[in-house]
Amino acid sequence: MVVYRTKNDLTRHLLLLQNGGKTIGLVPTMGALHQGHASLVEKANGENDIVVVSIFVNPTQFNDPSDLDHYPRTLDQDLDMLRKMEADLVFVPSVKEMYPEEETQIFDLGNLDKVMEGKHRLGHFNGVAQIVSKLFHLVRPNRAYFGQKDFQQLVIIQRLKEIMGLDMSIVACPIIREKDGLAMSSRNLRLSKEERKVAPFIYESLVQAKKKMETQTPSQLKDWVNLQFRKQALLELEYFEIVEDKGLMPVEEWSEEVNKVACIAVQLGRARLIDNLNFD
Ligand code: PAJ
Repeated sequence: MVVYRTKNDLTRHLLLLQNGGKTIGLVPTMGALHQGHASLVEKANGENDIVVVSIFVNPTQFNDPSDLDHYPRTLDQDLDMLRKMEADLVFVPSVKEMYPEEETQIFDLGNLDKVMEGKHRLGHFNGVAQIVSKLFHLVRPNRAYFGQKDFQQLVIIQRLKEIMGLDMSIVACPIIREKDGLAMSSRNLRLSKEERKVAPFIYESLVQAKKKMETQTPSQLKDWVNLQFRKQALLELEYFEIVEDKGLMPVEEWSEEVNKVACIAVQLGRARLIDNLNFD
């Protein structure tokens, strides 16, 4: 496994590999790696000759400076894990390396960044699009791997690929959960013992809501979920939305024709956690 810190070193090595006909799988991350990230690396390893993992806490996607300051950074552990998983190239650039000048590029993502995370974290997805487009240009992967954990991000990356006109595949990977249902996240590291105990309620509320689909309308379900969270002392519901999986428009009534995904964001202590569940 080779670790690169500059774009030049990375692209020089990649060019040799690409000229030799090797296929490249890219796994973009912000580090503090866990089994969720590992599942992406494993899938990429099975489908490509070479796996490139990037570790970069991207400042332009943080709308809250304190969230950026406190984002967990565990580089040595991350590299150990990637070595064991037989990743080939790891790219760990500095902020200056990725953003030598102030970044001004704006992406037109239509409705996709106006709802849910986009509404609550202004500018977040434009920042994601900025860094991911840079990584796509640099690495020119055959496939790039993203988790369904960040469902809205995944839909936006698929759109970004179209905007950029790239000939590559975006591979969606299932959500990896702890035994008690909590979706794995680097942000779980910020939970106190007490908070960690109640965190599975987030996934549980999605599962229970899904069971009620037969007897309740989407808006009744939203009310029900809101009520459940009002009874919880530590968990503060930011939103619960049921959207169709292409344009992320809210689902007003159940229909077989569209794929429905229920998305949730919750503040728990110092951590803001998101999760989602397919409602088909
Ligand atoms: P990060 O939160 O580190 O996540 C990196 C990738 O791992 C994302 O595609 C995310 O969806 C996936 N992932 C995280 N937790 C997961 C889980 N429990 N199960 C399955 N996949 C999971 O997402 C980002 O970084 C950044 O926004 C990035 C795309 C790297 C751009 O900066």
